[in-house]
Amino acid sequence: MPGIVLVGAQWGDEGKGKITDLIAHDFDFVVRYQGGNNAGHTVIADGKRLALHLIPSGIMYPNVTPVIGNGCVIDPRVLIDEMDMLEREGISTERLLISGNAHLIMPYHLDLDGASELLLGKNEIGTTRRGIGPAYQDKAARVGIRVQDLLDPAIFKLKLETVLVEKNRLLERLYDLPTYTADDICAQYLTYAARIVPHIADVSTLLNDALRANRGVLFEGAQGTLLDIDHGSYPFVTSSSCTAGGATVGTGVGPVAINKVLGIAKAYLTRVGSGPFPTELFDETGETLAKIGGEVGTTTGRSRRCGWYDAVVVRYAAIINGLTDLCVTKLDVLSALDNIKVCVAYDYADKLYGTVPETQTAFHHATPRYEELPGWKCDISGCRRFEELPAAARDYIAFIEKLADVPVSMIAVGPSREQTIMRGWRL
Ligand code: GDP
Ligand code: IMO
Ligand code: MG
Repeated sequence: MPGIVLVGAQWGDEGKGKITDLIAHDFDFVVRYQGGNNAGHTVIADGKRLALHLIPSGIMYPNVTPVIGNGCVIDPRVLIDEMDMLEREGISTERLLISGNAHLIMPYHLDLDGASELLLGKNEIGTTRRGIGPAYQDKAARVGIRVQDLLDPAIFKLKLETVLVEKNRLLERLYDLPTYTADDICAQYLTYAARIVPHIADVSTLLNDALRANRGVLFEGAQGTLLDIDHGSYPFVTSSSCTAGGATVGTGVGPVAINKVLGIAKAYLTRVGSGPFPTELFDETGETLAKIGGEVGTTTGRSRRCGWYDAVVVRYAAIINGLTDLCVTKLDVLSALDNIKVCVAYDYADKLYGTVPETQTAFHHATPRYEELPGWKCDISGCRRFEELPAAARDYIAFIEKLADVPVSMIAVGPSREQTIMRGWRL
């Protein structure tokens, strides 16, 4: 059995939750390796619609062990709320395993996320304000508090007292915000500990043993390639490694354990928050995509910016992640359109770009070069085989495939599990 990474090929919200849930039953472990509750992964199964923020989308299957890896940042209150929500839905969270090396999102991280966005003013990133950036900042600064610190209340308090010296000064003097006492946070977090400690596990050893024993591990990426801290549209990115390489760092598994990398791309494009988006639409077509596609954020409820499919972005994602397969989602949303545009290259300063420009300036000012394809103007949400799709929809997929230079082995034509066309997907 293989190790497979599933990764967003655009700016997030590509339908990673749906596809993870669809294929998870073939795996023994489904693992989140980065990010936190900035993610919102929608799973629709057995008539239930669930929004998962931290818990892997394989949780629905009793044969799957869901794992949160060391590369994640965890807001314990959100995690416990999510566990309670799942239990209420009759889904057991007993099997959930959490790396002791994952970092905790602390109350001051939430304050600092909001405060630094305010200070950035019109240059704000448009974060989810879930404390993600400040938690990763502390990890890099080596003052982060980790899940394993919940095991020892004395150590937890000591680390907290140390870091609060700096945080309280920042909150009070720079941002004019209330400060914290270690006692207050300890009281709150040590009640969370009772729920979280039983799930702590040596994730790296467990996954390496599993892979050596030929058991299947699915690494569920959050966010997307263009939100990656290194390879994304910096500074308008998140603070973690969303790309496929993040799966090895974020779990402690070597790169040769990964057999396949499945990229998920919407049949058009969306983005939440600030930053470049060359194919963004500000007209009626954009509104149509937003309306039919239900393009409202799963985590923050913000409207998603919508635009045409950008083959430059997906080609870039194919290269950066080493995609072996592509899954195109939400093809059904395009059914309303007479004609569909695809961006095949960018123009900027007398130069033609076939991949994402190396400078921020060029990306911000890139003008898309489009090719226009005819729409199919009929309902495709009931199609289950590629041959059942109208010729224009098949041509659209073939065009995307050619531009990405990666086989499109799965196509989603609706939000539920069964609304998926398998086109050569193999483990
Ligand atoms: P994720 O963050 O990548 O997991 O994606 P989200 O769950 O945030 O957003 C994807 C949205 O599209 C969800 O509401 C899904 O239920 C929905 N969805 C996924 N695939 C399809 C599809 O093929 N067609 C339609 N119409 N909706 C889809
Ligand atoms: P899923 O996993 C879409 C965006 C935010 C913002 C930027 C930084 O559901 O695809 P952060 O709070 O991470 O510091 O915000 O990243 N962002 C997402 N956009 N989908 C997501 O996750 C996102 N997670 C973060 O909107 O622009
Ligand atoms: Mg999402």
